Amino acid sequence: MTIPVVTVDGPSGTGKGTLSLHLAQSLGWHFLDSGALYRVLALHASRAGVALTDEAGVTALALRLPVSFAAGDGEPRVLLELEDVTAAIRTEEGGAAASVVAALPAVREALLARQRAFRQAPGLVADGRDMGTVVFPDAAFKLFLTASPEARAERRYKQLKGKGIDVNLAALLEDIRRRDQRDEQRAVAPLQPAPDAEILDTTNLGIPEVEDRVRRLLQLRGIG
Ligand code: DC
Repeated sequence: MTIPVVTVDGPSGTGKGTLSLHLAQSLGWHFLDSGALYRVLALHASRAGVALTDEAGVTALALRLPVSFAAGDGEPRVLLELEDVTAAIRTEEGGAAASVVAALPAVREALLARQRAFRQAPGLVADGRDMGTVVFPDAAFKLFLTASPEARAERRYKQLKGKGIDVNLAALLEDIRRRDQRDEQRAVAPLQPAPDAEILDTTNLGIPEVEDRVRRLLQLRGIG
C-alpha cells in the first residue's frame, strides 16, 4: 500500500505553515516543511561565500545539505549541522534568499529525493509551493491556499510586531509581491495549483475556520 500524503501549497502568509503542522500533529503523521530546506540552503550558501545565483555551486551544497529537523515544544527546530537555525532562517531576508535559490532548476532537482524521503508511514503532510504538482503528484489530497497580498502582508506585520520586530507594512507588501512574482514565474515548478487541488481562499478566514474546513474535506476522502 502506498503511504498517503496530504499536500498544502500556496504563497506565504496564507496560514499554510500553521495549518500543515496542526494537521500533521492531529493525524499523527510526519511533516515536511519544504520551504525550510530552501531557506537553510540559502543560509548555508551565504555562509560558504557561494553566490545565491551560482547554480552549480548552490547545487553542490544542496546535494549534501547537512540539515535535520528536531521535534520541539511547538514548531519543529531546524538544524544546520548541529546549530539551531530556526530563528535565523525565518527572517524576511531568509525568505527572499530562499526564493532566489529555489528558482534554480538544478537545485530543485537536487532536493527532490530528500523531500520524497519524508514519505514514511503512517503518512505525510507536506507544506510548500510544488508539493502537489512536482514532489508528490500522487498525493491523496491536495490543498492550495490563497489570500490577497494585502491580507498576507497584514498577517506578517502582526506576527513580526508580536515578536517585537519593527516593520513597515508597505515594504512588507512590496516584498510579498516581488516574491510571488519570482515564485510564480520561474521556469521550473512555478507556484501554481495542481489541476486536482482543492483551492481555499483564506483572505477572510481565521486559522480555526480554515482548519475546520480542511478537516471536513479530509474526512470526505476518508482521511483522519
Ligand atoms: O514557505 P516558505 O516561505 O518558507 O518558502 C521560502 C521560499 O522557498 C519561497 O519563496 C519559495 C521557495 N520554495 C519553493 O520554491 N518550493 C517549495 N516547495 C517551498 C519553498
